[in-house]
Amino acid sequence: MAQASYHFPRGFLWGTATSSHQVEGHNPPNNWTAWEQEKGRILHDHKSGLACDWWGGRWREDLDRAADSGQNTHRLSLEWSRIQPAPDRWDEAALDRYREIMRGMFERSLLPMVTLQHFTLPLWLAEQGGWENERIVDDFAAYARKVVEALKEYVTMWVTINEPNVVMASAYLFGDFPPGKKDLGAAMTAGRNMLRAHAAAYHAIHKIQPQARVGVAMNYRGFAPARSWSPLDRWAARTQSLMFNDLFPRAVQKGKIYLPVGFQRIPEVAGTQDFIGVNYYTRDQVAFNLFKPGELFARRFFLPGADLSDTGFIANVPQGMFDALKWALQFEVPIIITENGVEDADDDLRPRYLLQHLHQVWRAVNFNWPIKGYYHWSLVDNFEWERGWTQRFGLWELDVETQARRKRPSADLYAEICRENGITSEMVERYAPEVMSSLFPD
Ligand code: BGC
Repeated sequence: MAQASYHFPRGFLWGTATSSHQVEGHNPPNNWTAWEQEKGRILHDHKSGLACDWWGGRWREDLDRAADSGQNTHRLSLEWSRIQPAPDRWDEAALDRYREIMRGMFERSLLPMVTLQHFTLPLWLAEQGGWENERIVDDFAAYARKVVEALKEYVTMWVTINEPNVVMASAYLFGDFPPGKKDLGAAMTAGRNMLRAHAAAYHAIHKIQPQARVGVAMNYRGFAPARSWSPLDRWAARTQSLMFNDLFPRAVQKGKIYLPVGFQRIPEVAGTQDFIGVNYYTRDQVAFNLFKPGELFARRFFLPGADLSDTGFIANVPQGMFDALKWALQFEVPIIITENGVEDADDDLRPRYLLQHLHQVWRAVNFNWPIKGYYHWSLVDNFEWERGWTQRFGLWELDVETQARRKRPSADLYAEICRENGITSEMVERYAPEVMSSLFPD
């Protein structure tokens, strides 16, 4: 068959994403290291431990892997608990280390995208109530100022908070993340403080660096009514989407927190995003269930027969990527896919997942939607939060005991995509022939 291809615009960002707690290792006292010590919080009581040993210097070899495989950017996060180990103490040596990593990225022609806060909080802050205590708003702004002063010569692309909606849900509604609450009121308080902290950091960054591009990385999840004819299922799916997907970025756009009934004003956050980061992984079916008030009357599940990841955590629904990008358009700012990927130890699903999702991104780009880049989660297997080491998202496999890395076929596929700035029928034939007829129909 003749070679066909789907190309991306010139200058498209191709990278991978990581986060401090998940890769650095020897993590200092933060709410997650403390959580890992509590029995039963993490699957099999796994610990982040040495993680991928980035703090010990292995960031060099992993970023070599990223650069050598054609990536032109990398998204990582800073560990607040390293930089501010106590309320009245900044650790300049930690900031120097991050400066060295940023320099290392430039030497490898990897444009840094830096997240200020990816799930972890310094323990001293968590002990003061974390996101539930409004004092965090000023603390976060001070931390942002400190970091931007230190890294401004290298970094202009900033994500303030990673997935505030996941934190609201997992830490305050489902109880899987610290502090393990199941309390809608606490979730709303945390959400409000995250909004205000984001806005305060946005202004703090722009004051120091007017040319900065600042955004939030949102986790967009598709929610489809299980029975499309059922008004109750439709209501439940809409409510999930409103609370999980829409609440935070709409507040950032409009300065209003829209609830199922009515709205609250939060004017100081209006207009504080220069781009929107979209993390897309999967889509749920939603059925109304009267017995689940704590989950907003929703039972969520994957379609029977779905193409599932190793542990059933992710269903491969590429159309959801297109829906996510369409959803992101409403915010009227550039869009960056800040995470997308799948847990797949033996790499039998990842090649098709990657190609099918990028095909959807390409479709969206062809509507001239302002999509600037794609970050695959993740570069190397890393510590997957309450799921410990049971899920493998890396393009490179990690042996946690020996720290040895082994390349998965998807790493080669992604390298070809980055170099080609697109996907070709020939790549699909070699890496995922099973989706050839849907991606490149005759
Ligand atoms: C988070 C990552 C996580 C990934 C896969 C995202 O929601 O931002 O930290 O590793 O999902 O579970």
